[in-house]
Amino acid sequence: ASSPATAPRRLPFSRVAVEDLTFFRKTLPGRAITDPDLVQSSNEDWLKSVRGSSEVLLRPQTTQEVSQILSYCHSRNLAVNPQGGNTGLVGGSVPVYDEIVLSTSLMNSILSFDKISGILTCQAGCVLENLSLYLEERDHIMPLDLGAKGSCQIGGNVATNAGGLRLLRYGSLHGTVLGLEVVLADGQVLDCLSTLRKDNTGYDLKQLFIGSEGTLGVITAVSILCPRKPKSVNVVFLGCETFDQLLKTFQLCKGMLGEILSAFEFLDSECMRLLNTHLKLANPISDCPFYIVIETSGSDSDHDSQKLHNFLEEAMTSLLVTDGTVATEESKIKTLWSMRERVTEALTHDGFTYKYDISLPVERIYQLVTDMRQHLGKRARSVVGYGHVGDGNLHLNVTSSAKDPALLASIEPFVYEWAAKFQGSISAEHGLGLKKRNYIYYSKSRPAVAIMGKMKTLLDPKGILNPYKTLPDDLK
Ligand code: FAD
Ligand code: MLT
Ligand code: ZN
Repeated sequence: ASSPATAPRRLPFSRVAVEDLTFFRKTLPGRAITDPDLVQSSNEDWLKSVRGSSEVLLRPQTTQEVSQILSYCHSRNLAVNPQGGNTGLVGGSVPVYDEIVLSTSLMNSILSFDKISGILTCQAGCVLENLSLYLEERDHIMPLDLGAKGSCQIGGNVATNAGGLRLLRYGSLHGTVLGLEVVLADGQVLDCLSTLRKDNTGYDLKQLFIGSEGTLGVITAVSILCPRKPKSVNVVFLGCETFDQLLKTFQLCKGMLGEILSAFEFLDSECMRLLNTHLKLANPISDCPFYIVIETSGSDSDHDSQKLHNFLEEAMTSLLVTDGTVATEESKIKTLWSMRERVTEALTHDGFTYKYDISLPVERIYQLVTDMRQHLGKRARSVVGYGHVGDGNLHLNVTSSAKDPALLASIEPFVYEWAAKFQGSISAEHGLGLKKRNYIYYSKSRPAVAIMGKMKTLLDPKGILNPYKTLPDDLK
């Protein structure tokens, strides 16, 4: 079970009894799973850092079934953990104790796609990559992309308000999600599944569920605005000597690439070392302290190449970048992207990983990594920095050979105090889940958190939805 430092005592929910299982089996024939071997993977998170002890995994296929389950669990005071692809990184996706796991994996139908407006409506359990493939055949793309695309689900993406690699260009899910269908804790179906670009009929309730991490309702369907598939995509992998040069390259890039810029990401040389060592991925350019991945997406390849050429020439002649390579062809684009996308995976092979996902004024982001390295000295195995420069979002990760409470005590609250000092956020895109919820006050005022608590009570008065997550203990 999770350590007491992150999990409070089990709250007084009912325990699953034989008659509950009878109800679940009747409601979901063949889809109420109790075989421990099958439930096991739903109890452990992707990072293998937290583990619950649920004995029941429910796999509904329809909104109606979700409604029946929640209505029943509400009446019986049974706690429920909504789960999508289980790729979450803050311990929010798995039970802490014996919460029932409600998986959306079988809710994977696409409901409609309107080619004129680019609006896709689908069930929450659709895997992000499958949606991307479906759309590509129809000349569109998803407005978000992340390294976990092969497993994460759109419902999970919305529930965490995932950012990812394209946010710089297409904005956050708060803008691209047009509608949601949500089942509330008592089983009531809230139909906000609008497909309108504009709708100012009072409060925009769907926004409340975007980033609510399964604590306010179970998202069962999503409608989302999808951009046209760009006709021309280029990816550039560059090397810089200093982070200051990297920032100057970012400024130059915004000025010279303008509307075709679709991503500006970075990784440091420590990330590169882990990619080489653990995943045998070769550095596509010469060794440098910092690497940049730039993507352009446009509608005219000649125009885009010209712009990119001018930018690269300027970046090289002004000595901002020391080396680089360009990809226009699909397979090389994938190879270059994997240098950035697979850092998370490389870290898992380096040891136990302490992950931090911080928003800061962009000129500060790397200073946190250098300060942390100095602060920890030889106590950490690796201290690495990578992330979404274009969004001012740093991923600071510290590894050690095994879980190390003393090391953790050196990292936290140091890292959170550092972020707060510069008015940053202690969770830019991953959410709070189990691991970060008690640090919320570093980034949110007490009155704001108190209103969050009131909203939770309004929508889930018995607190059965994803207990021990997102909200700090002192609200209980
Ligand atoms: P889960 O992990 O199953 O659940 C996450 C949270 O959402 C939990 O609190 C769960 O209770 C809740 N939830 C899930 N489905 C529902 C639902 N239908 N209704 C209500 N609540 C629900 N995140 C980023 O933001 N940007 C990245 O670039 C990024 N890259 C990643 C790369 C890798 C390799 C990995 C492993 C993770 C990455 N993540 C990233 C984190 C993670 O993938 C995202 O948070 C993702 O959106 C989670 O989706 P999921 O379906 O796996 O949700
Ligand atoms: C990323 O940007 O790679 C993801 O958010 C995952 C991570 O932080 O490791
Ligand atoms: Zn990220």
